[in-house]
Amino acid sequence: MKSETEKTRKKYDRVSRFYDLMEGMMESGLTKHKKKLLSKVKGDVLEIGVGTGRNLGYYNNKANVTGIDLSPKMLSRAIKKAKLAKRNYSLLVMDAENLKFKDESFDYIVCIGVLCSIPNPVKALDEMRRVLKPKGEILMLEHMLSDNKLIYFLENIFNPITKGFFGFNINRDTLSNIKKAHLRICEKDNIAMHDVFKKLVVAK
Ligand SMILES: C[S@@+](CC[C@H](N)C(=O)[O-])C[C@H]1O[C@@H](n2cnc3c(N)ncnc32)[C@H](O)[C@@H]1O
Repeated sequence: MKSETEKTRKKYDRVSRFYDLMEGMMESGLTKHKKKLLSKVKGDVLEIGVGTGRNLGYYNNKANVTGIDLSPKMLSRAIKKAKLAKRNYSLLVMDAENLKFKDESFDYIVCIGVLCSIPNPVKALDEMRRVLKPKGEILMLEHMLSDNKLIYFLENIFNPITKGFFGFNINRDTLSNIKKAHLRICEKDNIAMHDVFKKLVVAK
């Protein structure tokens, strides 16, 4: 039987062809938050689940960016974008639950719409804590389980559909998962759909 990781890789390989089109239709509200969040980033930066490289254009040239993703087909699109932009990013196929970097390697780690897809998000967050420098920050733009009873109910009802077709969960309790990985939430803002989309700054 295929592991959850293998299933996730296959799903994202499959959606890679129409991912940018699909996300482009939903993204407009998040663009300003991405720009603001990523403009402050500098030094050694790791983007987890870099996907098709939709966020690469938001980094300034003080950021030395490494991007990893489970899906070779998503990543190949990021590599094409990087070539067109003539920027020198390091883009690698890698599992966020098993990062091949030394302890305390990165000043910033970026997670945008990723903790919903990683099969074991707490394991990935443990790995992020390990590779983050002591004063580093994890910057997140993530959707998660709502506190609102109606939204909570709908997220749980529709989760099998989003997970089955696209590979992401809409009912992840990401705030609890961050705490389970012994990380600290330093800033928390609700940015869209009541409290579903959040901007978080997380540290050790
Ligand atoms: C919803 S997409 C987000 C992509 C990108 N961050 C964006 O903002 O467009 C989720 C990405 O996480 C990747 N992913 C899922 N599980 C992963 C894992 N265990 N390790 C690395 N990447 C993973 C998927 O392959 C996919 O590219």
